[in-house]
Amino acid sequence: MNELSDVMEQSLEALVERAGDPAPIVYARLFARYPEMEALFIRDLDGAVRGEMLTKAIECALDLAGPNTYAANFIRCEVVNHEGVGVPSDVFPRFYEVAVDTFAELLGVDWTPAYEAAWRGIVARVAALA
Ligand code: HEM
Repeated sequence: MNELSDVMEQSLEALVERAGDPAPIVYARLFARYPEMEALFIRDLDGAVRGEMLTKAIECALDLAGPNTYAANFIRCEVVNHEGVGVPSDVFPRFYEVAVDTFAELLGVDWTPAYEAAWRGIVARVAALA
Protein backbone atom coordinates (compact mmCIF):
# COMPACT_ATOMS: atom_id res chain seq x y z
CA MET A 1 0.00 0.00 0.00
CA ASN A 2 1.11 3.60 -0.52
CA GLU A 3 0.18 7.01 0.88
CA LEU A 4 -2.82 7.43 -1.44
CA SER A 5 -4.36 4.07 -0.58
CA ASP A 6 -3.54 4.65 3.11
CA VAL A 7 -5.52 7.91 3.00
CA MET A 8 -8.42 6.10 1.33
CA GLU A 9 -8.34 3.30 3.92
CA GLN A 10 -8.39 5.89 6.70
CA SER A 11 -11.44 7.54 5.13
CA LEU A 12 -13.22 4.17 4.92
CA GLU A 13 -12.48 3.36 8.56
CA ALA A 14 -13.83 6.78 9.61
CA LEU A 15 -16.86 6.28 7.39
CA VAL A 16 -17.78 2.87 8.80
CA GLU A 17 -17.24 4.14 12.33
CA ARG A 18 -19.58 7.05 11.66
CA ALA A 19 -22.22 5.46 9.44
CA GLY A 20 -21.82 1.67 9.52
CA ASP A 21 -22.44 0.00 6.13
CA PRO A 22 -22.83 2.80 3.58
CA ALA A 23 -24.30 0.50 0.89
CA PRO A 24 -28.01 1.28 1.45
CA ILE A 25 -27.36 5.04 1.19
CA VAL A 26 -25.02 4.68 -1.81
CA TYR A 27 -27.67 2.74 -3.74
CA ALA A 28 -30.48 5.07 -2.68
CA ARG A 29 -28.39 7.91 -4.16
CA LEU A 30 -27.56 5.90 -7.28
CA PHE A 31 -31.23 5.13 -7.98
CA ALA A 32 -32.25 8.74 -7.25
CA ARG A 33 -29.79 9.89 -9.95
CA TYR A 34 -30.26 6.95 -12.35
CA PRO A 35 -33.76 5.57 -11.66
CA GLU A 36 -33.60 3.27 -14.69
CA MET A 37 -30.75 1.34 -13.07
CA GLU A 38 -32.81 0.10 -10.09
CA ALA A 39 -34.80 -2.42 -12.15
CA LEU A 40 -31.54 -4.11 -13.20
CA PHE A 41 -31.12 -5.40 -9.64
CA ILE A 42 -34.40 -7.35 -9.82
CA ARG A 43 -32.65 -10.63 -8.95
CA ASP A 44 -30.90 -9.13 -5.95
CA LEU A 45 -33.66 -9.90 -3.42
CA ASP A 46 -31.56 -9.59 -0.23
CA GLY A 47 -29.08 -6.89 -1.34
CA ALA A 48 -26.17 -9.35 -1.39
CA VAL A 49 -25.22 -8.47 -4.99
CA ARG A 50 -25.32 -4.75 -4.21
CA GLY A 51 -23.17 -5.30 -1.12
CA GLU A 52 -20.69 -7.42 -3.07
CA MET A 53 -20.58 -4.86 -5.88
CA LEU A 54 -19.74 -1.95 -3.55
CA THR A 55 -17.09 -4.07 -1.82
CA LYS A 56 -15.53 -5.00 -5.18
CA ALA A 57 -15.65 -1.40 -6.38
CA ILE A 58 -13.85 -0.23 -3.20
CA GLU A 59 -11.25 -3.03 -3.45
CA CYS A 60 -10.61 -1.97 -7.05
CA ALA A 61 -10.20 1.66 -5.97
CA LEU A 62 -7.59 0.69 -3.37
CA ASP A 63 -5.69 -1.46 -5.89
CA LEU A 64 -5.90 1.31 -8.51
CA ALA A 65 -4.48 3.80 -5.96
CA GLY A 66 -1.80 1.28 -5.03
CA PRO A 67 -0.06 -1.43 -7.07
CA ASN A 68 -2.86 -1.68 -9.67
CA THR A 69 -2.16 -5.40 -10.01
CA TYR A 70 -5.67 -6.15 -11.39
CA ALA A 71 -8.04 -3.17 -10.99
CA ALA A 72 -7.66 -1.47 -14.38
CA ASN A 73 -8.21 -4.74 -16.25
CA PHE A 74 -11.05 -5.77 -13.95
CA ILE A 75 -12.82 -2.46 -14.50
CA ARG A 76 -12.40 -2.65 -18.28
CA CYS A 77 -13.93 -6.17 -18.24
CA GLU A 78 -16.78 -5.12 -15.94
CA VAL A 79 -17.69 -2.23 -18.25
CA VAL A 80 -18.33 -4.82 -20.99
CA ASN A 81 -20.07 -7.28 -18.64
CA HIS A 82 -22.33 -4.53 -17.36
CA GLU A 83 -23.30 -3.44 -20.87
CA GLY A 84 -24.55 -7.03 -21.17
CA VAL A 85 -26.95 -6.50 -18.24
CA GLY A 86 -28.10 -3.07 -19.44
CA VAL A 87 -25.67 -0.63 -17.78
CA PRO A 88 -24.50 1.93 -20.40
CA SER A 89 -20.71 2.39 -20.45
CA ASP A 90 -21.07 6.12 -19.67
CA VAL A 91 -23.16 5.32 -16.56
CA PHE A 92 -20.85 2.58 -15.20
CA PRO A 93 -18.08 4.93 -13.88
CA ARG A 94 -20.73 7.19 -12.29
CA PHE A 95 -21.07 4.57 -9.57
CA TYR A 96 -17.80 5.90 -8.12
CA GLU A 97 -19.00 9.50 -8.32
CA VAL A 98 -22.17 8.59 -6.44
CA ALA A 99 -20.24 6.52 -3.86
CA VAL A 100 -17.69 9.29 -3.20
CA ASP A 101 -20.40 11.98 -2.96
CA THR A 102 -22.14 9.75 -0.40
CA PHE A 103 -18.94 9.11 1.60
CA ALA A 104 -18.25 12.87 1.69
CA GLU A 105 -21.77 13.66 2.82
CA LEU A 106 -21.78 10.99 5.53
CA LEU A 107 -18.45 12.17 6.97
CA GLY A 108 -19.37 15.85 6.74
CA VAL A 109 -16.68 18.09 8.30
CA ASP A 110 -14.47 15.04 8.87
CA TRP A 111 -14.17 14.52 5.09
CA THR A 112 -10.70 16.02 4.70
CA PRO A 113 -9.20 17.68 1.59
CA ALA A 114 -6.82 14.67 1.41
CA TYR A 115 -9.79 12.26 1.29
CA GLU A 116 -11.46 14.43 -1.36
CA ALA A 117 -8.33 14.60 -3.55
CA ALA A 118 -7.64 10.85 -3.24
CA TRP A 119 -11.18 9.72 -4.08
CA ARG A 120 -11.82 12.28 -6.83
CA GLY A 121 -8.59 11.08 -8.42
CA ILE A 122 -10.06 7.57 -8.50
CA VAL A 123 -13.34 8.84 -9.99
CA ALA A 124 -11.37 10.48 -12.82
CA ARG A 125 -9.19 7.39 -13.42
CA VAL A 126 -12.19 5.04 -13.63
CA ALA A 127 -13.96 7.45 -16.01
CA ALA A 128 -10.84 7.33 -18.21
CA LEU A 129 -10.88 3.49 -18.17
CA ALA A 130 -14.61 3.09 -19.04
C1 HEM B 1 -24.02 2.76 -12.19
C2 HEM B 1 -23.14 1.79 -12.25
C3 HEM B 1 -23.45 0.32 -12.07
C4 HEM B 1 -24.64 -0.35 -12.18
C5 HEM B 1 -26.01 0.21 -12.52
C6 HEM B 1 -24.38 -1.76 -11.91
C7 HEM B 1 -25.32 -2.76 -11.94
C8 HEM B 1 -25.08 -4.09 -11.63
C9 HEM B 1 -26.09 -5.13 -11.65
C10 HEM B 1 -27.55 -4.92 -12.03
C11 HEM B 1 -25.49 -6.29 -11.25
C12 HEM B 1 -26.16 -7.66 -11.07
C13 HEM B 1 -26.23 -8.34 -12.38
C14 HEM B 1 -26.93 -9.68 -12.23
O1 HEM B 1 -28.00 -9.77 -11.63
O2 HEM B 1 -26.36 -10.60 -12.76
C15 HEM B 1 -24.10 -5.98 -11.00
C16 HEM B 1 -23.16 -6.91 -10.56
C17 HEM B 1 -21.86 -6.60 -10.29
N1 HEM B 1 -21.24 -5.37 -10.44
FE1 HEM B 1 -22.13 -3.65 -11.03
N2 HEM B 1 -23.03 -1.92 -11.64
C18 HEM B 1 -22.44 -0.68 -11.71
C19 HEM B 1 -21.10 -0.38 -11.50
C20 HEM B 1 -20.17 -1.30 -11.05
C21 HEM B 1 -18.80 -0.97 -10.75
C22 HEM B 1 -18.18 0.41 -10.86
C23 HEM B 1 -18.19 -2.15 -10.36
C24 HEM B 1 -16.77 -2.41 -9.93
C25 HEM B 1 -15.72 -1.82 -10.32
C26 HEM B 1 -19.20 -3.20 -10.42
C27 HEM B 1 -18.96 -4.52 -10.10
C28 HEM B 1 -19.93 -5.50 -10.08
C29 HEM B 1 -19.67 -6.88 -9.66
C30 HEM B 1 -18.34 -7.46 -9.18
C31 HEM B 1 -20.90 -7.56 -9.79
C32 HEM B 1 -21.18 -9.04 -9.43
C33 HEM B 1 -21.57 -9.10 -7.97
C34 HEM B 1 -22.06 -10.52 -7.58
O3 HEM B 1 -22.46 -11.23 -8.42
O4 HEM B 1 -22.06 -10.80 -6.38
N3 HEM B 1 -20.39 -2.65 -10.84
N4 HEM B 1 -23.87 -4.64 -11.25
